[in-house]
Amino acid sequence: MLSSQLAGIEFASCIMNASGARCTTAEDLQALARSEAGAVVSKSCTLEAREGNPSPRYVDTAWGSINSMGLPNKGWQFYSQEAAQIADLGKPYIMSVSGLTLEENKIIIAQLQENQQVGAIELNLSCPNVPNKPQTGYDFEQVRRVLDAVAEFDAIPLGVKLPPYFDFVHFQNVADILNQYSLAFVTCINSIGNGLVIDAESESVVIKPKGGFGGLGGDIVKPTALANVRMFRQLLKPEIQLVGCGGVRTGQDVFEHILCGADVVQVGTQLMQEGVGVFARLNAELQTLMQRKGYTSIADFKGKLKTL
Ligand code: DHB
Repeated sequence: MLSSQLAGIEFASCIMNASGARCTTAEDLQALARSEAGAVVSKSCTLEAREGNPSPRYVDTAWGSINSMGLPNKGWQFYSQEAAQIADLGKPYIMSVSGLTLEENKIIIAQLQENQQVGAIELNLSCPNVPNKPQTGYDFEQVRRVLDAVAEFDAIPLGVKLPPYFDFVHFQNVADILNQYSLAFVTCINSIGNGLVIDAESESVVIKPKGGFGGLGGDIVKPTALANVRMFRQLLKPEIQLVGCGGVRTGQDVFEHILCGADVVQVGTQLMQEGVGVFARLNAELQTLMQRKGYTSIADFKGKLKTL
């Protein structure tokens, strides 16, 4: 049984796409809805449609990926309208919202409340790729201001997607703020922001925006992702659920996120590389691993990581 529950929604599988990976167009969203993913998560949307940054803006590497997409998206109304088709296919739908300002987030979230086919909102506090827009998640007072601004809208469950943190004091500071709100979930982690991948042969950066700096995903971010899931599971109040994201390539990676306390798990870089067939493979691999260990449900091992 790979099923899980998040924000009061039943997911047939605990595995779904990470926002940003193959979820921008109507075709992308349809393909996700028809796949073995447990839910569909939309591309982060803004008030108005955006072209995003100049290409090349996404590059795979031996250990993962670097991207500086710059929030290319069709505008929040498009992603709101797509909810109907996804609901027709019986899949839960999580809309990722990433307004360029606090005011944009407030307008989008206020208007979304009327759409009952949106199962949950994942408010993105961690996009590292829009020039001159700092990651909200690294400005703790701004996190508080954004959550204050949207707290009154409670018809649709709200979660937040965080950037990775690396310091115990920062984990505690963020958790203390989040615990003051009735959030349904927290997603850990967004990409590790502003890495630099270079090509020694051409002596050049590999993506065009921001002088080559971009968000890192894939294998190398897994230990950071697991640390964030684990730490927030220990610091957040139990009503706030956790979405694990970062470095998921195999069923064992999903298992590790759940051991650290994730209720559901998202796949980004690997979905980009493999396509939507990744969900059938990951479901099968997780099922096999659970059978070998004698586990019949996610609850049998969720959050049960041992320490020495
Ligand atoms: C983009 C990247 C992110 O990591 C994110 O959270 C939102 C948007 C982007 O560059 O499009």
